[in-house]
Amino acid sequence: MDDRSRPLSKPFPHGVVNDAASVTEVVQRAMSRTPDPRLREIMGSLVKHLHAFVRESRPTPEEFERGLDFLLRVGQASGPQKNEVVLLSDLLGVSTLVVMLEKERSGAGGTDPALLGPFWRDNSPVCAPGENIARADGGGEPLEVAGRVVDPRGNPIAGVTVDVWQASPVGLYENQDPEQPDHNLRGRFETDGSGRFHLRTVRPRGYPVPTDGPCGELLRAQDRYPYRPAHLHFMLSRAGYETLVTQVFDNADDAIESDVVFGVTPALSGEYRRGPDGMLRLEYEFVLKPGTRRIPRAPIP
Ligand SMILES: [Fe+2]
Repeated sequence: MDDRSRPLSKPFPHGVVNDAASVTEVVQRAMSRTPDPRLREIMGSLVKHLHAFVRESRPTPEEFERGLDFLLRVGQASGPQKNEVVLLSDLLGVSTLVVMLEKERSGAGGTDPALLGPFWRDNSPVCAPGENIARADGGGEPLEVAGRVVDPRGNPIAGVTVDVWQASPVGLYENQDPEQPDHNLRGRFETDGSGRFHLRTVRPRGYPVPTDGPCGELLRAQDRYPYRPAHLHFMLSRAGYETLVTQVFDNADDAIESDVVFGVTPALSGEYRRGPDGMLRLEYEFVLKPGTRRIPRAPIP
């Protein structure tokens, strides 16, 4: 989008502002020659609703400064350990709204998607079937995960890359925790001829989103419970199918109905069952819809 060699435009007499009522129209006119129609539409809508929000909430100059400072600090708090911008979007329900609108657009028939979250890395280790992704003895109860991937007609899909990531038994992702080895509790598996994959790990624990930055200040100011119910993250991808980014939750978790980032849907409330041998297992069937494979940009390196 950004071609820096392109000369900036000549003066365009979009008019001047007379009062509060006229600002929106003048700004809309100034942006009216945007060549890319989709950018023109998005920015036009953004200005319309942003100005309406300002008219309704009428921030004082002090509140405005505070809001701008908050956004500045959200950017500054982002780095290799967390992406506070993604976190803010998650906490405002925007990430889940985008995911749910995308689900609506692509039609019924697939497994519910859920937000990617701020902790996915795009280079996790390729694993053999059944491999244990708990790469260090960090405690926690052993868990076996057995999945099956099918198309909307129930036919198994072989060769699907299943990328799994989760928080440790203390509720931290490896990149947040110097005690864990690199790529602990992350791995990529592939479905076999019957669409199945399995892996070993430890039971994930619910965790609070990072509260040491500006997003934490906001949560405290709003008296919000910062926890997510325990879950495993999954990204399933194969050429010819829409990539599915989702999470499977532990429906026995106390926070199942109070997810701070709104990722839980009834269909994603999984049952972590104990077998007669005492082993904890999660079984889940994923449905992929035919479409275009798309791998998101990783929020952290
Ligand atoms: Fe998570």
